[in-house]
Amino acid sequence: MAVSIDDLGDLVQRSDKLIELLKRHIFSPDGAKRFEKVYRIGEAASLIGRHATTIRDAANQGVISTERAAGTNARGFTLSDINKARRHYNTMPQIAVDEEPAIMAVQNFKGGVGKTSIAVHLAQWMAIRGFRTLLIDLDSQASATTLFGYTPDMDIDGDDTLAPFIMGDQRTMHYAIRDTLIENLSLIPANLQLYGAEYYIAAQSERKEIYSYLPEGINSIKKDFDVIVLDPPPALGMLSINALVAATSLLIPMPPRMLDFTSSLQFFNMLHETLEIIVEKHNVEFNYDFVKIVASKKKQRTSDEKYARAEDDILGLARDIFGKEYMLDGIIYESTAIDNAASEFKTLFEIQGQTTSYKSFRTAMAAIDGVCDEVMQEMLSYWPSLKAKIKAA
Ligand SMILES: Nc1ncnc2c1ncn2[C@@H]1O[C@H](COP(=O)(O)OP(=O)(O)OP(=O)(O)O)[C@@H](O)[C@H]1O
Ligand SMILES: [Mg+2]
Repeated sequence: MAVSIDDLGDLVQRSDKLIELLKRHIFSPDGAKRFEKVYRIGEAASLIGRHATTIRDAANQGVISTERAAGTNARGFTLSDINKARRHYNTMPQIAVDEEPAIMAVQNFKGGVGKTSIAVHLAQWMAIRGFRTLLIDLDSQASATTLFGYTPDMDIDGDDTLAPFIMGDQRTMHYAIRDTLIENLSLIPANLQLYGAEYYIAAQSERKEIYSYLPEGINSIKKDFDVIVLDPPPALGMLSINALVAATSLLIPMPPRMLDFTSSLQFFNMLHETLEIIVEKHNVEFNYDFVKIVASKKKQRTSDEKYARAEDDILGLARDIFGKEYMLDGIIYESTAIDNAASEFKTLFEIQGQTTSYKSFRTAMAAIDGVCDEVMQEMLSYWPSLKAKIKAA
């Protein structure tokens, strides 16, 4: 069958329709995504930074109330109540005015290593802990934007992305920041039109430094946030370079597999060369607070014994070579729970827990929780006031 350009247009419309139908099916009855998670008393107490007995008293006194988890009989506290309690007990973790937000790029030029999944989980984890968090989707494929429940080319307009700021039509990035279903988590979304920014930056290179756009943009909004997570595209393009320069720390997902390993080495090479050129040209100092590799999408013994063992060997070697200095202890496992959640446009943190295979959910959750906590500990070492506050709570 011959396929004309008009037919391709028809294919686009059919795909849009399919996504709309899928969203209606997943987010029934009205196709709108919700965040309905409730936290049990122990979890809530730990998130609030007070003992469970204190939280129980607060609930009895009506400071906060419990809700029933959707579709179950379990009762717990919503994030909104947890934040109410944080304000009541003054345990909201916000950095001091003279402290800088952590700007973390989850970066590796290799595609499909779990960057977006980790970036969105990390941003949600930080926001659930009460940090004022912003996730910036810099990838015109817009996977992160999709995980927030948007269909990028239907729900998001080019003007909603960073494109107008980059092209000089907006002076700050405020216009692009939108609230999400999770309190304290904001999003700057992406869609295909953001790709135009790549060409624009390159075309303007005589007039303006190619890597100065995002650092300037983030400067214009950073006082409103404690944590800014960047999700760049999987290539050394203009937006990726901007992310590498704007970031104060890097998290590099690396599956412990030969091919991913070698391309990660290429990534370090390019990172080194790119930053060296910038630093030499401008005679400036450049430091990251930390650069950490995280083993990602690692096969579990239970699912694939032979390959899991081979990956254990590679991971062991990687740990010997990179050491704790450059590598997190935690591991993100390849998990059906993460993949199943993603196919419903969700992360593990948006799932109540009873709805999927509980063991696989708990394992994946514990692993990702550990990784996010390690990242937070790194960030806290640059925020002395907050570290003291969290310790005291
Ligand atoms: N830990 C995991 N376990 C199982 N599946 C995962 C995991 N992390 C990511 N995935 C799945 O793998 C695919 C790629 O993940 P993701 O989009 O996070 O990678 P990426 O590095 O951002 O990709 P890209 O290079 O295209 O931006 C997605 O379908 C995602 O749902
Ligand atoms: Mg991605």
